[in-house]
Amino acid sequence: MTTPWKRKDLTGLSELSAEEIRHLLSTATAFKEVGTRQIKKVPALRGKTLVNFFVEPSTRTRVSFELAAHRLSADVVNMSAGSSSLTKGETLLDTAKNLRALLADIIVLRHSSAGAAQFLAERMDASIINAGDGAHEHPTQALLDTFTICEAKKLTGADLKGLHVAILGDILFSRVARSNIHALTKLGAKVTLCGPPTLVPRELESLGVTVTHNLDALLPEVDVINLLRIQHERQRKEYFPGLGEYTSIFGLTKQRAEKLRPDCLIMHPGPINRGVEIDSDIADSGRSVILDQVTNGLAVRMAVLYLCSGAKA
Ligand code: CP
Repeated sequence: MTTPWKRKDLTGLSELSAEEIRHLLSTATAFKEVGTRQIKKVPALRGKTLVNFFVEPSTRTRVSFELAAHRLSADVVNMSAGSSSLTKGETLLDTAKNLRALLADIIVLRHSSAGAAQFLAERMDASIINAGDGAHEHPTQALLDTFTICEAKKLTGADLKGLHVAILGDILFSRVARSNIHALTKLGAKVTLCGPPTLVPRELESLGVTVTHNLDALLPEVDVINLLRIQHERQRKEYFPGLGEYTSIFGLTKQRAEKLRPDCLIMHPGPINRGVEIDSDIADSGRSVILDQVTNGLAVRMAVLYLCSGAKA
């Protein structure tokens, strides 16, 4: 089979075609099967070295990239900004060049600045994988979200035509929302963004989505609802009067969850602020696929590492 994948990097989903996204997702399906075997390791990246370089905190993304690399038999090193020479004034590019001098083949980068992964990808011959850059993109999160939707809704070939997905919350500062919008619209889904006008401005409709500020009217209409955390760390001013007010208008409370269709999937990329954007019992209910998203992140990240490294099956 010929592969449509010719890239050494994954910096975002805006530049990917629907065919490339589908190829990533079908490769992830094969790696999910590997995870059901007694021996969950394959030799695809034997002899390769991956550096997990996280300049911002992470639980899910960092651990799943590390596990994914181990399962592909790569050598793995974890680095955080606080324990690196970035604290002594070394630049990001010099840091990355030094990692390459130590024969790193793949650098997984989480950074607070939009465009940081792209900046390195254009200057390095190593593979650069974006693990979240500021409020720009979080491509592997959107891929695992899309994978989880396809799995739960039994959508073959990642064809999302006829599916209506709501993304609710702090869209303005959300890299997860941006990457999800690219993936979902390219695969044919209808996407509606909802939240306070200050965090979900009408201008976002230029991305090929619908914007509404009326959550109660939207709830019965959607097949999937993806809730986002309020990103206090990126906000420079107050965008709503207080968390209590946010929850009363835009939180997925028990009463609001009753308005959803019985088969509506409830998603959240994590970390969850229980009782703010989602009621604690709803987060733990049978309709929530929040932990399935985390599990699927492993197979998706194996697929990304495998394809970007140019490994042969
Ligand atoms: N969803 C997500 O990116 O979580 P982490 O920040 O824990 O990696």
